Amino acid sequence: MSVENEIERHVWEADLHLLRSIVENVNDAILVTEAEPVEEPGPRIVYINEAFTRATGYTMEDVAGKTPRILQGPETSQAARDEIRTSLNRWKPVRIEIQNYRKDGTDFWVELNIVPVADENGWFTHWVSVQRDVTERKREEEERRRNEELFRNALAEQASDIVTIVEADGTVRYASPSIKNVLAIRPEEMLSKNLSAYVHPDDVERVSGAVAARASNPGVGKPIELRARHRDGSWRHLEAVGTNMLDDPSVRGVVVNAWDVTSRKRVEDELRLKDRAIAASSNGIIITDPNRPDNPIIYVNRRFEQITGYSAEEATGLNCRFLANADRDQ
Ligand SMILES: Cc1cc2nc3c(=O)[nH]c(=O)nc-3n(C[C@H](O)[C@H](O)[C@H](O)COP(=O)(O)O)c2cc1C
Repeated sequence: MSVENEIERHVWEADLHLLRSIVENVNDAILVTEAEPVEEPGPRIVYINEAFTRATGYTMEDVAGKTPRILQGPETSQAARDEIRTSLNRWKPVRIEIQNYRKDGTDFWVELNIVPVADENGWFTHWVSVQRDVTERKREEEERRRNEELFRNALAEQASDIVTIVEADGTVRYASPSIKNVLAIRPEEMLSKNLSAYVHPDDVERVSGAVAARASNPGVGKPIELRARHRDGSWRHLEAVGTNMLDDPSVRGVVVNAWDVTSRKRVEDELRLKDRAIAASSNGIIITDPNRPDNPIIYVNRRFEQITGYSAEEATGLNCRFLANADRDQ
């Protein structure tokens, strides 16, 4: 062996020694398998570092010659496995988050980086993977997701507005949880049914027409009133407005917002009745507004006009004093 070769060998061995001590001392778990076969019983494990043993409980003795699939368990995602297999079959590196299991059966999340390693001839000889424990981050993400969901649900439960998404023909594709508060119907009951099944027969044509018109025109429609059936058989008055969101890929429908105006309607009906009673009363009636300067008359009924000879038009805006003056003049 020449001196040059001898020196090169020393350098090479020193490099190897250095590399080995790095690999053995890093905190990330490292696992090396043969390049082929990647199908069972491969890829065969030929090396793991100490961090791998610390993270998983498996020693070299436990895993030598086995497949990394021993780390998988009931919650390991099939989609993630498919993605790894596809990459390995194409000799492509892959980075993925996957749920794995330790020797003692406890689970943890890892970010897995797998790369193929080639020899000097470009021939792939091994796969090397570096695994980082991301359990804590996953747990935080999951908690945040759950909190957001709880918050969204709480908002939707509280809301008195009903939101539905319907197709042009009125088929319900989504109904918000608030439908329970207003009509005592569970949102999932409405799915795939036609909106008209819940609308008063006399209002169906108008509602269907409004939905169809909205589906063929962009933007927001005018609010319409309709009666919807409560689970107890009574009718609730709703005001509803449709928005065309057919072009929005996350909606693809007409969004119908509706709100309960039953009690407002009841008050309006009562007021209308009282109005009629007052107007038809055989007593002369005056209503004044004490909140305005000089307490002016704002209403007189028909009988008042007959008794006094003043028309409603003449009387409104005046103070009641004008009647006393009128008496004196007579
Ligand atoms: C170097 C290397 C390391 C791997 N490490 C893991 C691992 O830590 N966890 C895991 O679930 N799968 C790991 N795999 C992937 C599995 O061995 C297997 O390729 C994957 O489950 C897809 O194949 P399958 O669909 O036949 O199960 C690794 C693969 C290689 C080549």
